[in-house]
Amino acid sequence: MDIIETIPEMHRWRRAGGRVACVPTMGNLHAGHLDLVRIAREHAPQVVATLFVNRLQFLPGEDFERYPRTFEADCAALSKAGVAALFAPQEQTLYPEPQTLKVVPPAELTNQLEGVFRPGFFTGVATVVAKLFNIIAPEIAVFGKKDYQQCLVIRHMVRQLALPIDIVTGETVRASDGLALSSRNGYLSSEERGRAAHLHRTLQRLGEALRAGEQDLARLEAQAQDDLRQAGFQPDYVAVRKQSDLQSPSAQDPALVILGAARIGNTRLIDNLEVER
Ligand code: PAF
Repeated sequence: MDIIETIPEMHRWRRAGGRVACVPTMGNLHAGHLDLVRIAREHAPQVVATLFVNRLQFLPGEDFERYPRTFEADCAALSKAGVAALFAPQEQTLYPEPQTLKVVPPAELTNQLEGVFRPGFFTGVATVVAKLFNIIAPEIAVFGKKDYQQCLVIRHMVRQLALPIDIVTGETVRASDGLALSSRNGYLSSEERGRAAHLHRTLQRLGEALRAGEQDLARLEAQAQDDLRQAGFQPDYVAVRKQSDLQSPSAQDPALVILGAARIGNTRLIDNLEVER
């Protein structure tokens, strides 16, 4: 696997040609990331992964400084997974001057759910992903559905800017008890880890109620949040939305997604579940 740190080097590597599928990451890789690499390999002969902890998408007081950085282990895992090149720039390389020009996703996608609790997060994500796309020029890019709203924001950006990139999404990979894999799971104490899968179970129960024909979404959402509180979580939201645009569904909409975010101790977990009814 080639490890590339600079933009000119990345351009040179790309000039050798061939279709590329890109897997953007912030490192500290787990089986979920490696599944995205597997999907990427099904779509293109060469996979370029990126590793960059993007300061722009962290709020002041969030975990930018302590975000786990495990470069050696990440390189070994990506190489074993068949990645052709890793683009791992220094901060100075991506942001040599203050990033005053930003990609600001539309309010209807970001003034809800994660966007309310992490204002500016999606602008940070869209801006860095746009830069990575410009530098690598992949034909395909693969993102995990665990970050459901992020996937919609990126699809929207690609569509509106007419970027010639197919966005492919991968299913959430879970631990055996159902907890969605996330780099932030490493922050959980063993006691918290024992309870963490309750978030997934809560979304599953809500999903069963929807499939059984329950219509009162506000009541179901409130009940799910109560369940989480009982289990010692502090929920930010549990919401039932349309898969297509994350707006509130009407009684006729069949393709729904339940999204949840909750704190357990100092760790914030997010998860979601697609439901067809
Ligand atoms: O999902 C992530 O890991 C990040 O938000 C991404 C897409 C790599 C941008 O920094």
